[in-house]
Amino acid sequence: MSGPAPASMSTIPSYRDLAERCEVIVCCGTGGVGKTTTAAATAMAAAAMGRRAAVVTIDPAKRLADALGIGELGNDPTVIEGPWPGTLAALMLDTKATFDAVVRRHAGSDQQAETILANRFYRNISTSLSGTQDYMAVEKLAELHSSGEWDLVVVDTPPTRDALAFLEAPKLLTRLLDNPIYRVLISPSKGVLRAVNRAATSVVRQLSRVVGAEVVDDAIEFFQAFQGMEDGFRERADATLTLLGADQTAFVLVASPRADTLVEAKYFLDRLGKADLDAAAVVVNRVLPTLSIDAARAAELQALHPGGPVQALADHAAAAAGDDDRIVDLLSAAPGATVARVPLLPSDVHDVDTLRRIAELLTEG
Ligand SMILES: Nc1ncnc2c1ncn2[C@@H]1O[C@H](COP(=O)(O)OP(=O)(O)OP(=O)(O)O)[C@@H](O)[C@H]1O
Ligand SMILES: [Mg+2]
Repeated sequence: MSGPAPASMSTIPSYRDLAERCEVIVCCGTGGVGKTTTAAATAMAAAAMGRRAAVVTIDPAKRLADALGIGELGNDPTVIEGPWPGTLAALMLDTKATFDAVVRRHAGSDQQAETILANRFYRNISTSLSGTQDYMAVEKLAELHSSGEWDLVVVDTPPTRDALAFLEAPKLLTRLLDNPIYRVLISPSKGVLRAVNRAATSVVRQLSRVVGAEVVDDAIEFFQAFQGMEDGFRERADATLTLLGADQTAFVLVASPRADTLVEAKYFLDRLGKADLDAAAVVVNRVLPTLSIDAARAAELQALHPGGPVQALADHAAAAAGDDDRIVDLLSAAPGATVARVPLLPSDVHDVDTLRRIAELLTEG
């Protein structure tokens, strides 16, 4: 026997290692796969190891707050008491409140902040522009990480098809600022740059015709009020992107063994890879519990006893075997990731004990 040991035996950190050592864990995946549950359970696992862990959730249905036995989670961390030696805190991301705080932080004066916050164009982008929720999730993550109060910050992400939406989110506003139209909109209406002004006037006129004069007025007011804050926003975008790509940051892809979500999961892995950010872990959630007989044996039994409980057994074994095949296929697309399997539980995760059970399942492998 010769040659190096397989990579999986020596170099891939386990899920337990990630919860124990990372400073940031981002849980991504498509809608309904269990991102919020995994994010909360991961923070709980870290708290069980004595760490100070905060989880940023995006869960308008408030399912997690219910599971944690908390009436409501706010936009700042709420400490959750429990039998863990570390600290567990959770918050539910409030996109608008977070964006407002970011504007206040970067503004040169209260007056500048208030002008922006009251602007209609700002109110639009801070609530309904696609990508704003991702952008603010990253902001919140950066804020908690830099506070020094937490050893680990776990972030849940909004349901999206595209991991890049999250990765590109920090650049949302700076991309807007880099758009030539911005230069035109803020160019002075009087002064030496007459040619620019003429171009600006004509662009503004055309724009007004398309989106309405009021919208353009709001946008001009917004960009003018924003002047002086660009550098701060650019530096922040660079810093958060560096944090997302840092060694202490891990991306966890949550998937279910269902065929349609696996296609999406593979797409996610592909997009992460394109951004040079491999998934550190794949959590396969809602795996069917395995039975002590395999699919072939169940099929034999079924032939002997058609229908009834044997049929149910055979159906289950066949479905579990199908799951297995699909999981193997998914994992082949993530050779550098550790894998955690969480079984389909008999009911939704609606209490602390079940979350703790999931935390154990994630970290015991
Ligand atoms: N292993 C499991 N067994 C049983 N129920 C589960 C399991 N994992 C998650 N659930 C339940 O499935 C539902 C969806 O889970 P969760 O909210 O974590 O998904 P999500 O990916 O965050 O969804 P969304 O994309 O809508 O935000 C919740 O009610 C949760 O309690
Ligand atoms: Mg969720």
